[in-house]
Amino acid sequence: MSCSTMKHLSSSALAAALAFSPSASAGLINTNMISRAANSSCAALELAGLKNIYYTGNDIYENRTHSYFSVSAQLEPYCIIQPTSAEEVAQIVTTLAQDTTRNFAIRSGGHTVWPGASNIENGVTIDLGLMNKTTFVPETKVAQVQAGSRWREVYGALEPYGVTVTGGRTSTVGVAGFLTGGGNTFYAGRRGFGCDNVINYEVVIASGQIVNANATENPDLFRALKGGSANFGIVTRFDMQAFDAPELWGGLVTYPKSTTPQHIAAYVNWTNNIVNYQDGSAITFWTYDPTAKDVIITAAYEDTTGTVAAPAFDEFMAIPDQTSSTMRIDTHRNLTIELELTSGYRNVWYAITFENDVRLVTKALDLHRQFVDDWKAQSPDGDFICHGILQAIPTIFSEHSVEKGGNMLGLDRETDNAIMFQVQLMVNGVEQEQLGRERMVAFREAVKQYSIDLGGGVDWEYLNYADFTQDPLSTYGEKNIDHIREVATKFDPTGVFQTRMPGGFKISKVA
Ligand SMILES: Cc1cc2nc3c(=O)[nH]c(=O)nc-3n(C[C@H](O)[C@H](O)[C@H](O)COP(=O)(O)OP(=O)(O)OC[C@H]3O[C@@H](n4cnc5c(N)ncnc54)[C@H](O)[C@@H]3O)c2cc1C
Ligand SMILES: *[C@@H]1O[C@H](CO)[C@@H](O)[C@H](O)[C@H]1NC(C)=O
Ligand SMILES: *[C@@H]1O[C@H](CO)[C@@H](O)[C@H](O)[C@H]1NC(C)=O
Ligand SMILES: *[C@@H]1O[C@H](CO)[C@@H](O)[C@H](O)[C@H]1NC(C)=O
Ligand SMILES: *[C@@H]1O[C@H](CO)[C@@H](O)[C@H](O)[C@H]1NC(C)=O
Ligand SMILES: *[C@@H]1O[C@H](CO)[C@@H](O)[C@H](O)[C@H]1NC(C)=O
Ligand SMILES: *[C@@H]1O[C@H](CO)[C@@H](O)[C@H](O)[C@H]1NC(C)=O
Repeated sequence: MSCSTMKHLSSSALAAALAFSPSASAGLINTNMISRAANSSCAALELAGLKNIYYTGNDIYENRTHSYFSVSAQLEPYCIIQPTSAEEVAQIVTTLAQDTTRNFAIRSGGHTVWPGASNIENGVTIDLGLMNKTTFVPETKVAQVQAGSRWREVYGALEPYGVTVTGGRTSTVGVAGFLTGGGNTFYAGRRGFGCDNVINYEVVIASGQIVNANATENPDLFRALKGGSANFGIVTRFDMQAFDAPELWGGLVTYPKSTTPQHIAAYVNWTNNIVNYQDGSAITFWTYDPTAKDVIITAAYEDTTGTVAAPAFDEFMAIPDQTSSTMRIDTHRNLTIELELTSGYRNVWYAITFENDVRLVTKALDLHRQFVDDWKAQSPDGDFICHGILQAIPTIFSEHSVEKGGNMLGLDRETDNAIMFQVQLMVNGVEQEQLGRERMVAFREAVKQYSIDLGGGVDWEYLNYADFTQDPLSTYGEKNIDHIREVATKFDPTGVFQTRMPGGFKISKVA
């Protein structure tokens, strides 16, 4: 009997037993479920003695599936497994790596909006949701953050110590995707990207070994993980350098769209001034939403020292016709809860970057207005949201990155301040998502081309906001691409994380 026949026989025998095992909870057995349970991947995990394996129809399976931010990402894996320790993650990787048909996905906060980044059809989803503890070490001010945590849990655990870390600006974002992809934070002007503040990673590599990566142990992997995404292994813990943090001054201010020109002028000046005022953050949103049925402007302003209305905000504060304001002194955690976005839609996002130039921002927002008008005209239910968002990417961010040892983003190649323009389209139904993607690609290309035509093009495309039709790793510079490739090959010579865990942006797909 050949080896593969044997596997087949033993797995179907096991499947028959499993269909009646306690894990297939009573009353929920149906043929769909049996065939899923029959898949050798889940069977092998059960056989290995692993716990917390859930199949479709189970409450935990359904709830975890619905907890992905974007409906587009709510796929149906054969089973979801929730490990509780690095050792269990290692055992899962070892078990799944044994057989080349056992594909899998890894999920932390589940906030990547496109299908298949952190979830999978025809495979197993490893869900780190139970690994969500943050331990603070006061002597070294290090926050040991388990990889399935969401930022609100991290900030909540650190608040009693009067410290915080460079995490997400929205409370439900997961730490692992955010930190392995870079991480734009309220503190970037002072401390660089989220990943620049990680001092040690605990990682399960393809062999099933649990290794540390830091400045002295596996330093090549350490650097690669700072922006190189899911190409090397499964991170199980991030050790971050925490810092004393007073409450912040921050909140949301809304304005009518008629103030667009003033916002553009103020934002361009703001971006150039970050080098002189590193404690602030400003994100400005042009948003169509179905309640307002119009575009309104919302700005999120923060001062991370708690200074009220520092002079750097003067130009923003002088913009007339504010319609609401929640500016106040509050905790980091609370300000990220306020910045929660609406979930429950299918999402198509993109982000590109161009030089900090009024003409380029004006054009991008003109095209956003045009996109919204066209979308409204064809939307069958009128129920959609479309954000056009400005985020400053001044050179001081990457100067801080370099000071802290460097990362994979490649922004240190840029000599001019830039703006990241991000668009988020939220719709209902597969057809609208499909049409949305076609139009978003055209929108993106039009903005990009305009910036190139005016001599203000910037290569960099941020992985954490990129659509799957983008190729962000290819924009990180040859040196970094080579480093990511070398480290991926060194720690994963058979390419488990390139082929068997197909989700996310893979270095093997970069030309
Ligand atoms: C509402 C919202 C707000 C956001 N706000 C910000 C923001 O303020 N700043 C910012 O920079 N970005 C922000 N983002 C983008 C965010 O950083 C990315 O979506 C990021 O990938 C989310 O991380 P996650 O763990 O939730 O994602 P997931 O979808 O769970 O994972 C993302 C990727 O990382 C991989 N991955 C997950 N866990 C691991 C692991 N343990 N080891 C290795 N790889 C792993 C996954 O396979 C996947 O490819 C926001 C996104 C949303 C939806
Ligand atoms: C399990 O899934 C893999 C990957 O799709 C597939 O090749 C294999 O045939 C499945 N096994 C069973 C027993 O269904
Ligand atoms: C799943 O979600 C439902 C609805 O929110 C809730 O009532 C139920 O307790 C949840 N079940 C589990 C196992 O988390
Ligand atoms: C971790 O997740 C569990 C299960 O979802 C939840 O009950 C718990 O509150 C979370 N822990 C923290 C620190 O938030
Ligand atoms: C780096 O890894 C080594 C080996 O595991 C460990 O002893 C050391 O404490 C780590 N350094 C940091 C800063 O975590
Ligand atoms: C914004 O910048 C422009 C050009 O650099 C300058 O002329 C203008 O005074 C600035 N506005 C404010 C309010 O600082
Ligand atoms: C943070 O939000 C919680 C819940 O709304 C509130 O009770 C608390 O007072 C807030 N913290 C501050 C400092 O305002």
